[in-house]
Parts: sequence; C-alpha cells; structure tokens
Amino acid sequence: MLEVNGLCKSFGPLVAVDNVSFTLQPGDVFGFIGSNGAGKTTTIRMLATLLEPDAGSASLNGLDMRRNAMEVRNMIGYMPDFFGLYEDIKVWEYLDFFATVYRVPKSERPSIVDNVLELVGLTTKKDAYALSLSKGMQQRLSLARCLVHDPSLLLLDEPASGLDPRARAELKELIAELGKMGKMVIVSSHILPELADFCNTVGIIERGRLITHGRVDDIVRDLQQTKVLLIRFIDRAHEAGMFLHGNEHVNANYVTGPTTLKVDFTGEHEDQARLLKMLIDEGYQVTSYMEEAIDLEDVFLKVTTGAVN
Ligand SMILES: Nc1ncnc2c1ncn2[C@@H]1O[C@H](COP(=O)(O)OP(=O)(O)O)[C@@H](O)[C@H]1O
Ligand SMILES: [Mg+2]
Repeated sequence: MLEVNGLCKSFGPLVAVDNVSFTLQPGDVFGFIGSNGAGKTTTIRMLATLLEPDAGSASLNGLDMRRNAMEVRNMIGYMPDFFGLYEDIKVWEYLDFFATVYRVPKSERPSIVDNVLELVGLTTKKDAYALSLSKGMQQRLSLARCLVHDPSLLLLDEPASGLDPRARAELKELIAELGKMGKMVIVSSHILPELADFCNTVGIIERGRLITHGRVDDIVRDLQQTKVLLIRFIDRAHEAGMFLHGNEHVNANYVTGPTTLKVDFTGEHEDQARLLKMLIDEGYQVTSYMEEAIDLEDVFLKVTTGAVN
C-alpha cells in the first residue's frame, strides 16, 4: 500500500504542496483533481522520488520513499505530463530500451514487450515508428513504457490531456484495467469529468491543500443529505424558479434551459411530494420531476465552490 504523510513543498515564498496525506490500497485508482497550479505535478514528482519534500514522508509497500529511494523507484511507473519521443525508433525498440533501463534481464525482454503491447492495445504497431502513431497511441505507448518493470504504483500526470474523446475513452478503460490487476494508480486531471467514472478514490487539491479525499462512495453518501431535483416544464421554467425561491426546503435553484430547472433540495419525501403539488396548483405544467443521481462532478462543484468564492 501507499501511505502519504504530511507532504509539503515550497518554492521560495510559494507553498505549492501543503500537508498532503492520503492512503491507497492495491487496486485503488485515485483521481487527483485540481485546477492548473493546484500542486498536482509537484506532489506526483515527490512521490516519484524526483523532488525532495520540505517535510512529510511517504512509504510504498512498507519502504520509506526517501531512505529506500532506489528500491521504491523500481516499484513505481511514472508518466510525466510531457514526454519526449525520439525519431527513428520503433515501438518495440522504445519499450525494449526502457526495459533495459529498468534492468529487466535480456532473455525476458521480448516477452515483456509483447505483453505490455497487448495490454495497451498496440500489438499491431510493434514495428511502426513511434512518431508515426496518433497522439492517443503515443500516450498509450508512454503508459506501456511505465509498465515494463511491473510496478505496483503508477503515477500518471494528466495522461488524458489533449486526447480526443475516443482516445480518452480507450485510456480510461486501460487505467481501470490496471486497477483490476491490483496496481495502485494515481491519475491527475484538471478536468473532473475525465476521471469521474473510473476512479474509486478521489482527492481534490486546491492551492496545495487536499480539501477532500476518500472513497467516491463515501463522499457521495455524505453529500446525499441535499439532493438535486431535476424538473421539466412545458415552458416558464424561469418563472417557476422564482416561485420556488425562498421555499424552506429549496437551498438554491438553477434554470438550465427554457424548460428545465435544477433544485437543491433538503426536505423529506413528503416535502418533495408537496413541492410538486405546489407547482401544479400554481399552474406550472410539469412534464417530469426526478431526483438527479449525485456524481463526482456534483461533489467537485459542492466542495470547491467555497474555496473559489
Ligand atoms: N520548479 C518550480 N519553481 C517555482 N515554482 C514552481 C515550480 N514548480 C511548480 N511551481 C509552482 O507551484 C505551484 C504548483 O504547481 P504544479 O504542481 O505544477 O501544479 P499542477 O500540476 O496542479 O498544475 C504553481 O503555482 C507553480 O507555478
Ligand atoms: Mg501539472
């Protein structure tokens, strides 16, 4: 497992990472979310043992990252936010090169190269030049490179950035697969929906501080005391919103279109039924009335609004 304890890093007067702590178990896929400049890359580089923390510690499978940096490095696959590909190198040569760097015995390299190529879906590109691959394939090749030494922790810094939706979907599937293989994966993004559906744990970082973290299920459950009602009308959604404004169970409402309204609702089921009756009695023509399932995106909006305001 990975235990991160009070990591701190400043650059001059700027506190880039402020007392970050969390724990991961094998199989956890941790979505590390925060806007640009929030401190994701700095945290990841410290975990990759490439940057010395000012304070705090981390241990991987019981080994301290600073005292046992060399052993720990062999258990980590790090995919930086920018990486170089070299001209005139074929896909298999690229992977073979990194396997050599990680001191994988020569006799094992060909089968390892084949295995990781299959895992990332690039088997047919084995003899292609790395630079001839699409951006999505290059990103998967870069991920394959992090897997040649069978690490237990993967650090993926914004792997989906710049990818088209299809390539992004393929990458997501691959990352979920790595979790199923029992690896720990930290995957960062400044765009939450990129991570929302395949991470089981999540951490939201703002100005260096981890403002919330934990299992996605737990965070969602905590937030479910307020539910979101999605109400559709034939027309006059805006007026209906004004009508509901000030209702004791309505925290806020948002007009999301000429015929749709979202309501942050705190009441019980009876109150919810009463609200619908009130709307109808008032002459609003309701075509649908439903509770919106809370997802990670809502969680993100709720926990970050405070900090942004
Ligand atoms: N080597 C550095 N020197 C000075 N400031 C840095 C350095 N690296 C990062 N920073 C600053 O630290 C903060 C966090 O940066 P970073 O970890 O890259 O954020 P993120 O990856 O979330 O976008 C930013 O304000 C950034 O400008
Ligand atoms: Mg970054």
